[in-house]
Amino acid sequence: TKPLRIALAGLGTVGAGVIRLLDTNGALIARRAGRPIEIVAVSARDRSKDRGVDIGRFAWVDDTTALAHADVDVVVELVGGSDGPALTLARATLGAGKSFVTANKAMLAHHGLELARAAEAANVALKFEAAVAGGVPVIKGLREGAAANEIERVYGILNGTCNFILSKMEAEGRDFADVLAEAQALGFAESDPSFDIDGVDAAHKVSLLASLAFGTQPAFADVAASGIRDVLAADIAEAASLGYRVRLIGLAESGPNGLFQRVHPHLVPVSHPLAHVTGATNAVVAEGNFVGRLLFQGAGAGDGPTASAVVADLIDIARGEFGPAFAMPADALLAQGPADAGDR
Ligand code: HSE
Repeated sequence: TKPLRIALAGLGTVGAGVIRLLDTNGALIARRAGRPIEIVAVSARDRSKDRGVDIGRFAWVDDTTALAHADVDVVVELVGGSDGPALTLARATLGAGKSFVTANKAMLAHHGLELARAAEAANVALKFEAAVAGGVPVIKGLREGAAANEIERVYGILNGTCNFILSKMEAEGRDFADVLAEAQALGFAESDPSFDIDGVDAAHKVSLLASLAFGTQPAFADVAASGIRDVLAADIAEAASLGYRVRLIGLAESGPNGLFQRVHPHLVPVSHPLAHVTGATNAVVAEGNFVGRLLFQGAGAGDGPTASAVVADLIDIARGEFGPAFAMPADALLAQGPADAGDR
């Protein structure tokens, strides 16, 4: 059988993880996918850097955006950034009639609708399981698992860096600035770490979850966000004395006046499962009218978990199993303006 041929753009932690995963589990994946999944071409900023994986066996392409024209079936984009080379590559790949798999939540939050339309026009896949909550299959969970439900609300802990910081502050009584460096040393932080701590990364993810849950066009501009810079150890101690923990929660809820999308530090009662999510873990709760409350939890970042999500998307494509990128065909997604908090 014909292998699914992959071009890989970006060889950071996740890119190297994808190579390692396919090397380790390739035979099992080929059996499950019905055919082998093979990386044939790669591109990154630095060719000679030691990544702990052998990239000498793949064709090297200097200009990342030229991967769109490589002799492959799918381009995997792990470059990042909402615009720039990632977006150029996405447009060129879909325009060339090839499938596109990405972990790039920022790009999809800003350009998801355009890219979904381009994928449909070319009858190819646009898939992004790795863009939200790393290895946790929350995109598939909403898009497929809960597809028969009216979703009332989706919310959760969407940024591992912030959750690590808040749990550390809680456990050790230390202030934000004091634990920030430790969180960044985990290697989970965005290239612009203010995206983590100011809630921007979580807002990117909320816009994608909202689209999947409510059938709306992804619209980052409609998410109101604030982060955890101003949370003090004293706030956490005060909350604890009242029976609450502080978590950065991303939330999307459909109300009479539209879609309510927000990211803010919340007081979570200790009786709620999200109060018990500590460290760099992610967790998403979705409430559906037939399924009830679902809880998705696991590693929201890191090479292994994120590679696991990327390769799950590749397996779908190898099997020929893919539908529209979001909840329904792009032209049927509803346009939404920001809902006023008072209208909730
Ligand atoms: N910076 C993100 C986090 C990485 O800390 O959760 C995964 O998107």
